[in-house]
Amino acid sequence: MNVNQMKKQAAWAALDYIHPGTIIGVGTGTTVFYFIEALKTVKHLISGAVSSSHASTLLLERQGIKVFNIQYFSSLNIYVDSADEINHCMQMIKGGGAALTREKILATMAKTFLCIIDQSKLVDILGKFPLPIEIIPISFSYIFKEIIKIGGLPKHRKHVITDNGNIIIDVYNLTVKDPISMEKKINSLPGVVTVGLFAYRTADITLIGQENRIKIINNKKI
Ligand code: A5P
Repeated sequence: MNVNQMKKQAAWAALDYIHPGTIIGVGTGTTVFYFIEALKTVKHLISGAVSSSHASTLLLERQGIKVFNIQYFSSLNIYVDSADEINHCMQMIKGGGAALTREKILATMAKTFLCIIDQSKLVDILGKFPLPIEIIPISFSYIFKEIIKIGGLPKHRKHVITDNGNIIIDVYNLTVKDPISMEKKINSLPGVVTVGLFAYRTADITLIGQENRIKIINNKKI
């Protein structure tokens, strides 16, 4: 099986966690694209979705799934999304698709964060994938200086404006040995909107697409 087949396998397995009559939180990215295709087959059973990006909203609506505005929700039963990297504590790097801020809001308000990945995403130490940070444009030079101080190599993600009107920097050269303290540190820099480190809000359940099987890591025991 190739990576896309493994993503698809994990995405379809997520349907087992969808309860009738609920509103589903939907992430962003290629794995979630497969999940939206799968969700279409049960769209008559669910009440609709809230989405982490304009891109996912378009895909959901194209499948005939009603999308509600996030601002009217303070909690969700389930949020389904992928990750760029995930460690064995279920802490993640996210934001490869630039949707990290809305993703973190939805993941945090959800009772269950269901992460769907192919096996290549599982790592021992986070940081090989460049860490995305959404920042307010005027803070650019200051944030660059602060990121270099902690040993990172920041690069501006050119030609990308987030759904919130901000910019993204990708931080290379990091070995994230203590994800919680790094999330806290980067979050505390003025100008940072969201760091794509999900160390506080880890996945509750992770479905890992492997060769012809799904590995399930369930930290929630539901
Ligand atoms: C989007 O901003 C990201 O957080 C995605 O969840 C992540 O990049 C995974 O993307 P793929 O499913 O495309 O690998």
